[in-house]
Amino acid sequence: MTEVTDKSVLLIISGGIAAYKSLELIRLIKKGGGSVRCILTKGGEQFVTPLSVSALCEEQAYTDLWSLKDETEMGHIRLSREADVIIIAPASANLIAQMAQGRADDLASTALLASDKPALIAPAMNVRMWENPATKANIEKLKEYGHTIIGPTEGDMACGEYGMGRMLEPEEIFVAITGALEQPLPKKKLTGKTALVTSGPTYEAIDPVRFIGNRSSGKQGHAIATALQQAGADVTLVTGPVNIPDPAGVKTIHIQTAAEMLKACEDTLPADIAVCAAAVSDWAPKQHEQKIKKRGDSSAPNIELSENPDILKTISNHKNRPEIVIGFAAETENLEENGQAKLAKKGCDIILANLVAQDGAEVFGTDQNQVSCITASAVDNWAPMTKSAIAKKLTDTIINALNQTETLKSAAE
Ligand code: C5P
Repeated sequence: MTEVTDKSVLLIISGGIAAYKSLELIRLIKKGGGSVRCILTKGGEQFVTPLSVSALCEEQAYTDLWSLKDETEMGHIRLSREADVIIIAPASANLIAQMAQGRADDLASTALLASDKPALIAPAMNVRMWENPATKANIEKLKEYGHTIIGPTEGDMACGEYGMGRMLEPEEIFVAITGALEQPLPKKKLTGKTALVTSGPTYEAIDPVRFIGNRSSGKQGHAIATALQQAGADVTLVTGPVNIPDPAGVKTIHIQTAAEMLKACEDTLPADIAVCAAAVSDWAPKQHEQKIKKRGDSSAPNIELSENPDILKTISNHKNRPEIVIGFAAETENLEENGQAKLAKKGCDIILANLVAQDGAEVFGTDQNQVSCITASAVDNWAPMTKSAIAKKLTDTIINALNQTETLKSAAE
């Protein structure tokens, strides 16, 4: 018996001369009693053939995202989910960049995005590519996402240069695989949980060219979606119009109005966690089909408003209410009092309350925020920090709250 006996390894081979070493890696795993499924990227196929890979794996090599045969026999989701360990060797600069961006434009990147476990990544590339700040930033991101980077090492490169960028030897990668199998990589704390996050403003049309809406950049809500996703949750983000990108690895639904936001949220339930960070417009105008014309007599039209649905309140009182529901309160005065009142009125578990202007500085659109975390029993004034730090602290608060309810539940059983 070895550590790989009866274990299933998903090996992803991307483009690089080091790909030939991965054939030896397959042999080592098979010799140890493990099974290997292999995905070859287009680049990988330039260096080793699907035929040699499948001969060694004793299973077909997977190359195509759109092959119907593969999708019926072995979908990209099963490819990564059924593996005990995922190893990318060689990991090219391109595949690393795809992973860092959360892209899914070929079979390898799609299987990795659909994966529920971190991967071992063995980079191999030219020294300048490895030292490029873009690659460095991508590697940092992958570490943040929980992946383990093994290598590269220093040495002569196939291109004639010398430096960092050589892939580890197959024996070294094999040792890393056995280590990962011995000590399973830590399961993320929110793995298996689903989360719904709202973000951004809603735009309520007055006529085809005008709207009313609240000021909101979406930065805080998007940061929360990212933090929950990084903690392992399966996150759906429902966002109004914003000028920031969709968070990587998060299912993002774009809406315009509060009514559309409510529908998307209700369609997403049930969920374990809901965080309503959107700045939902409280009212919607009665919409005019044609652009309202100026009257020419300096009088302004009366805009008839009706109240919008309260999404946070609806989710808090829903038959599929998430285990934990969190809202925000943007206040201009009496932060704690108004926050407490909002908690009761909406029926949620936590309110993060902030003053919209702090020391004369606005928080809208900035990266900085200061909030008080209000529950029925306590008010915790968090120090000023970045919106992504608030998102991480909120995620920890959610993890603790869910653990407490689980402890209470098991004590009652
Ligand atoms: O009532 P107020 O707008 O101050 O409450 C703020 C909180 O309620 C935020 O979490 C916001 O996302 C949520 N909200 C909502 N639907 C509304 C209004 C606010 O979900 N129509």
